Amino acid sequence: MVGIGAISLVVERRSPKPLVRVRFLHRPHMELNTGNNENKVIPPSASQSFLDSELRPKIWDDYIGQESIKNNLKILLLAAKKRGHIPEHILFYGPPGLGKTTLAHLIAHETGRVLKITSGPAIERVADLASILTNLQVGDILFIDEIHRLNKMIEEVLYPALESGVLHIVIGKGPSARTVELNLSGFTLIAATTRISLMSAPLRSRFSGGVHHLEFYSDTEIAKILQNSAGKLGIDLESDAYLEIAKRSRKTPRTANYLLKRVRDYAEITHPDMPITSSIVREALDMIGIDQYGLSGTDRKLLDVLINNFKGGPVGIKTLSAGTGEEESTIEDVIEPYLIQTGFIEKTMRGRIALDKAYEHLGIEKPIN
Ligand SMILES: Nc1ncnc2c1ncn2[C@@H]1O[C@H](COP(=O)(O)OP(=O)(O)O)[C@@H](O)[C@H]1O
Ligand SMILES: [Mg+2]
Repeated sequence: MVGIGAISLVVERRSPKPLVRVRFLHRPHMELNTGNNENKVIPPSASQSFLDSELRPKIWDDYIGQESIKNNLKILLLAAKKRGHIPEHILFYGPPGLGKTTLAHLIAHETGRVLKITSGPAIERVADLASILTNLQVGDILFIDEIHRLNKMIEEVLYPALESGVLHIVIGKGPSARTVELNLSGFTLIAATTRISLMSAPLRSRFSGGVHHLEFYSDTEIAKILQNSAGKLGIDLESDAYLEIAKRSRKTPRTANYLLKRVRDYAEITHPDMPITSSIVREALDMIGIDQYGLSGTDRKLLDVLINNFKGGPVGIKTLSAGTGEEESTIEDVIEPYLIQTGFIEKTMRGRIALDKAYEHLGIEKPIN
């Protein structure tokens, strides 16, 4: 998986006309499905986030679900506005594609603030952070994606910046080194992570505006998101067809939108001039290897390795990674959360265990111990 380190900075301004400036340090490359991985649909990764912007909700009403997070954020923002303060720092965490980046955009849009975007791996040196922070204007929002990948040295510089708006920079080396203190403009940090457990406790505690856990979506919520997306794409599906895609979307809006586009392509080529029905949806998704639970070839392979190579577990992450050929972080961030959520596997202290549902799904009889 490729991170979004490639994107250096996006600046967005509110009306009269949105100005969006994206500067790529390296060209973001998309993952391609290059043979030898039959039925392997590679879920859209964070590197494709620039494609997400097409369907990204711009107003609160279009942001479906996550009601308690939305209510908390609205109160935080209104209270700050009433007091004439800059909103406090906010952290979002949860699996990829659930709407963390979208919330950062929404907050900026709804409060009419400038949003500057960077990511943990893109901030390599203290100087990078210093340059980003000193370029912020009063009230700007800084969005740091994948904040768990910031290195410790940079975290140390970030703490006083978050707490008291000052930047301590060491100039020179050895005995002649001295610290310069720079006052920063007041800003709001919005950060996102898929791995809150990798964030240090002191860093987590700096988010006085709230630490929010994004949950998987219900099928009805996903169906609603799909309806809105279909509207934006100028296509129309029969109402049960939305639910059919929703059921196979891993409870994740990004996956849902991705599958909607694949269904649209399939329908355009194989059934032009016909309404898109749930049976067309099934044909399209079967063809790309997404089964009725939304599992892809990658998920099924993991279950297969777990059951057939390791007798159903428990198996540690390193062994599972070697057995499946997937990176540990891909297993932990992308594959596993949904398999755990839907009851295919369980994560215990000793490793991953295949549950009954996994045996049934693969049509393998569970051995009696
Ligand atoms: N609550 C939501 N309502 C509608 N669409 C959503 C919602 N959350 C996410 N999306 C869609 O999914 C895409 C991916 O969301 P994103 O915010 O980039 O996820 P994350 O940053 O958590 O990986 C967005 O472009 C948007 O189209
Ligand atoms: Mg994101």
